[in-house]
Amino acid sequence: MKVLGIESSCDETAAAIVEQNNQGELVLLSNVVASSIDLHTEFGGVVPEIAARSHIESITPVIEQAMKQANCTWSGIDGIAVTYGPGLGGSLLVGVLSARTLAIVKNKPIYGINHVLAHVYSAFLGSSTIDGYKFSRQKPQFPLLALIVSGGHTQLVLFKDVGNYKVLGRTHDDAIGEAFDKVAKILGLPYPGGPSISKLANSGDPDKYPLPKARLSDYFGFSFSGLKTAVLRTAQNAIGEDYNFPSHELSGRLNDTQKANLAASFQNIAAQTVVDKLELACKQFSPKSVVIAGGVAANQELRKQAQKRLSTPVIYPDIKLCTDNAAMIAATCLLTKNSPADDPFSLEINPSLSMVEN
Ligand code: KG4
Ligand code: ZN
Repeated sequence: MKVLGIESSCDETAAAIVEQNNQGELVLLSNVVASSIDLHTEFGGVVPEIAARSHIESITPVIEQAMKQANCTWSGIDGIAVTYGPGLGGSLLVGVLSARTLAIVKNKPIYGINHVLAHVYSAFLGSSTIDGYKFSRQKPQFPLLALIVSGGHTQLVLFKDVGNYKVLGRTHDDAIGEAFDKVAKILGLPYPGGPSISKLANSGDPDKYPLPKARLSDYFGFSFSGLKTAVLRTAQNAIGEDYNFPSHELSGRLNDTQKANLAASFQNIAAQTVVDKLELACKQFSPKSVVIAGGVAANQELRKQAQKRLSTPVIYPDIKLCTDNAAMIAATCLLTKNSPADDPFSLEINPSLSMVEN
């Protein structure tokens, strides 16, 4: 059974083909991602109109390339899976309308997929026919504790089984990736902030600036906006200014050592914050596996702290499958294939789609 996945919820236009073999293993046959990130860098974040226009230009060549890379013809495709939410409205529309058109023209069933859920299921991809992918030797097992850490989401979810889950906690304000992006902006680093913060943090002292961890009455909830503001105040203080000093002028006044120390101190507390909650949830629910997925799962400090503090094995998707991709969309469709197909004439986007519990 082969599924074509299509993803366009933010600034990546992606298509991939995943096959479920006779042993039930999910095999990656192709994975194509075209990012419009370079077009957004000068604005310090994703500009929705630019992202949508870029998806329109890229979607057809990206799908064609995914078919070619998998050596696949339309007769070999059993279904089309597409992200219908959450995400940017204009961006989601391009993927969903393309998938709907293909489903009608090629006479294939169509399945709308939740992007956040798909980040977790990316860890279930087990092998690939294309080079350059590393898969965990351990297969995810239930009960499974999943931490989704991306630019738009920070959620802790407990899965009893595929499709049977409970959201234990989510962020009350900024997502962790958003905090990386905002702190990077304060330090004058390019967007996206995660990779640039972690690179700079390598030469910094993580204990130089004591930064606060949010205390919430919501046991498994997260909050990152206070940490971001604390970085701002600490940076202002480091150059001898008060809270009135404009944040956009800070990077010109901070020296390289101060920037590296701020990056390392922030990264250390951000990683500790999510690993604290993972540790609590592991103690309370004794999962057989932990999955950390989403763009921030690429962060090496987070991986180091998780390895040190958690006794449950942690499974990470291949690093190329941590950030947005369509392989996770196709994989989710195959794992939840008992779900009924959607109507290709009426499948709508849902930009604020949340995880629907059962
Ligand atoms: O999952 P993703 O590609 O898109 C969303 O669904 O949001 O995640 C993108 C986020 C960005 O905020 C980016 O700064 C962050 O992931 N990120 C990282 C790293 N690589 C990407 N954060 C920390 N460390 C990294 N190495
Ligand atoms: Zn994502």
